[in-house]
Amino acid sequence: LPTLWGDGTRLRQVFLNLTENAIKFTPAGGTITLSAQMTHVEIEPDEDTPAIMLRGFKRPMIEVRVADTGIGIPSHERLRVFDAFYQVDSSSTREQGGAGLGLSIVRRLVDAHDGSVSIEDNSPCGAVFVVRIPCRRLSFVG
Ligand SMILES: Nc1ncnc2c1ncn2[C@@H]1O[C@H](COP(=O)(O)OP(=O)(O)OP(=O)(O)O)[C@@H](O)[C@H]1O
Ligand SMILES: [Mg+2]
Repeated sequence: LPTLWGDGTRLRQVFLNLTENAIKFTPAGGTITLSAQMTHVEIEPDEDTPAIMLRGFKRPMIEVRVADTGIGIPSHERLRVFDAFYQVDSSSTREQGGAGLGLSIVRRLVDAHDGSVSIEDNSPCGAVFVVRIPCRRLSFVG
C-alpha cells in the first residue's frame, strides 16, 4: 500500500475503537478480520472545492475494513451509532458496558482526515466498518 498522510496516533485510536467494538459485540468463537486496500473515490465537490478542477477526478484512498461475525447493526441504526452516547438497545438487560462514545470519536477523527466511515452487513452475520482515508491532502494552486 502507498504511504498515507495522517496522524498515526489518532488513526491508531480509530482502529483500536473499531476493533474493541468488534470483539465486544461478537460472541466467543466468532471471527474479527481487518483488511486494507487501495481504492479510488470520485470527489463530491462542496462549496470549498473548485468543482471545475475536480470533475472526474478519483482520489486515491486507503480503505480499511473491520469485519466481525457478531450481533450486527440494523440498517436503521447505522447513522445514529455515530452520535455521542448513543447505544443500540440501551435497556437494562444490555450485556455490554461502555459509554457510547467510541464511534463518535471515530467519526470526528476520520472527518479530520477528510475521510469517511460507514457500516455494511457482513455475510452471513455481523457488521463491517469501512474507513476510507485519503492518501494525501487536497491542495489547489491559485
Ligand atoms: N461491531 C459492532 N457490532 C454491533 N454493534 C456495534 C458494533 N460497534 C458498535 N456497535 C453499537 O454501537 C454502539 C455505539 O458504539 P460506541 O463504540 O460509540 O459505544 P460503546 O462501545 O457502547 O461504548 P465506548 O466505546 O464508549 O466504550 C454500541 O453500544 C453498540 O450498540
Ligand atoms: Mg466502543
